Amino acid sequence: MPGSDVFTPPTSFSSQAHVGSLDEYRSLCRRAEEDPENFWAEMAEAEVHWFEKWSHVFEWNPPFVKWFVGAKTNAAYNCLDRHLETRGDKAALLFEGEPGDRRSISYRELHEMVCRFTNVLKARGSRPGDRAIIYMPMIPEAVVAMLACARLGVTHSVVFGGFSAEALKARIQDLDASLVLTADGGWRRGKEVRLKDAVDEALTDCPGVRNVIVARRCGSSVQMTAGRDHWWHELEEGVGADCPAEVLDAEHPLFVLYTSGTTGKPKGILHTTGGYLTYTTCTMKWVFDLKEDDVYWCTADVGWVTGHSYLVYGPLSAGATCVLYEGAPDYPAWDRWWEIAARDKVTTFYTSPTAIRALIKQGDSYPAKHDLSALRLLGSVGEPINPAAWEWYHRVIGKERCPIVDTWWQTETGGIMISPMPGAVPLKPGSGTFPMPGILPEVVDFEGKPVAPGGEGFLIIKRPWPSMIRTIWGDPQRFEQQYFSRIPGIYFTGDAARCDEDGYYWILGRVDDVMNVSGHRLSTMEVESALVRHPAVAEAAVVGKPHEITGQAVCCFVTLKQGASTDHSALGKELRQWVAHEIGPFARPEEIRFAESLPKTRSGKIMRRLLREIVTSHTVTGDVTTLEDLGVVTKLAAQHDDD
Ligand code: PRX
Repeated sequence: MPGSDVFTPPTSFSSQAHVGSLDEYRSLCRRAEEDPENFWAEMAEAEVHWFEKWSHVFEWNPPFVKWFVGAKTNAAYNCLDRHLETRGDKAALLFEGEPGDRRSISYRELHEMVCRFTNVLKARGSRPGDRAIIYMPMIPEAVVAMLACARLGVTHSVVFGGFSAEALKARIQDLDASLVLTADGGWRRGKEVRLKDAVDEALTDCPGVRNVIVARRCGSSVQMTAGRDHWWHELEEGVGADCPAEVLDAEHPLFVLYTSGTTGKPKGILHTTGGYLTYTTCTMKWVFDLKEDDVYWCTADVGWVTGHSYLVYGPLSAGATCVLYEGAPDYPAWDRWWEIAARDKVTTFYTSPTAIRALIKQGDSYPAKHDLSALRLLGSVGEPINPAAWEWYHRVIGKERCPIVDTWWQTETGGIMISPMPGAVPLKPGSGTFPMPGILPEVVDFEGKPVAPGGEGFLIIKRPWPSMIRTIWGDPQRFEQQYFSRIPGIYFTGDAARCDEDGYYWILGRVDDVMNVSGHRLSTMEVESALVRHPAVAEAAVVGKPHEITGQAVCCFVTLKQGASTDHSALGKELRQWVAHEIGPFARPEEIRFAESLPKTRSGKIMRRLLREIVTSHTVTGDVTTLEDLGVVTKLAAQHDDD
């Protein structure tokens, strides 16, 4: 049961940890709380290289913040150049492609690859302040693309390769990108995911894109539009690797990452340079206890924030050796991850509860085949980790030796906010435990008043921190309204939480219309908008339904237009495929339910709460007096039994 077991850090771990006791942890927190300016200045000095120092540490005009005001730095310089003297020959990336190809790339080699590609971007006319979309598989060139943009000051937005051409187009347009970096395709479960084809489809409506640079990965034939599309390797021919990093402002926009909000339109979360690097580098030490000879593996895709902060920027800035794997965990068999972990002697492994649950289902024999004894620390991210998954991860993968860091954070927070420091904090399975130094969370009620220990409420963060979201790209009003209006001037996370009597935080899930499917955020509105674009659909309401493996699954209630097909089985299939095409395969609904009408309030709002109850418990309780048509609910609830 969550809360009943407490796991104290093993002495063997604490004795070597960066932060080895609760007292040390508390003293860091005290310093950060009492004197944030000096605390963060000290961290920034210690962890980041600056070309010029700041005039002041932060400037907070809610909802807008600036960190390390006036300072100059460069993210790629921090991830590469500053390591050359001491870590030039150390592996930065241990890459494994799904077909089994492998490359070990040292810091010196990665630096050279990034410098050469930055020169390519310059030669194609890119300048600091331009925007680039990166739509690539998990290959070293994806990391090179990100770092080359960062080196030149081009703001990048990585779009997860599982997003469709439609979703890609919306992001290119919103960002007004002039450059797209992609590949012919990538390997996933033995098949080629044809990325360039999706780019071609997206670009039919994006006149602002002047250059498309295509890395060759799969070798299959692709269309190349003359004047616009270029092969990566051809552009690199004869290009030198001498390319000093641009000296950029600490607040220079490093990247925009689109995430789902409560409307159909994804939000472009903006992160800048100096504060982001400071915070992600610090948390590599605090949370992952990173040591020089660690082999660190974060399984997230570069298309999600975890892939930015804890696969690329955080670990490389901290000088880590990182495993990068292109493909699926079950290809060719369910021990692919464990095979890699054993071969590369992975010490630190960071993944999602969804992945853990999928692995549990395959049984213990897969990990048992491999020597996982190099592991010393395990991590979890993306959703609450259920006790059964925690217990298995701890026993079968960590052999009861390895602490588990359950890390709570968000695209908006840029870095890990609540997580154990593994050498210091006793673990309670299912709890992210305590906040990082300088992070001041609180659980509050509707009016923003603190809830007593043990009570449930909204999770807020009371003070700005270096890696926090700066704005929503092109929409500062939405930024303020979304995050700083419920309690004016205070960051609202959108999550419900409970803080127990010992000060441990338990995250209870989203309080808005955002679903969490396999640890990926997806808004109900986004799926609804996709559905109503289908010619047969009149109205759609989408809710998250509990799912054994993926946490939640997408469940859609649909009403049809007059004259639509009555073959619900075929139409259901078609609509599932339609959503996958409109958003991306990961958003494919688990279930489509057809209804005559949807339950609405008198003002016409669809009552998703009721639908959620229907898919969760198949009954409806609570206040339904504002319903327009009660009969509808009863019918929908009863439908389950007819299925
Ligand atoms: O609801 C929380 C959940 O994921 C949301 C953030 O999603 P996203 O921006 O896509 O970032 C995911 C990776 C950082 C949060 O609002 N979440 C994330 N981590 C946890 C979590 N819920 C519980 N426990 C976690 N460790």
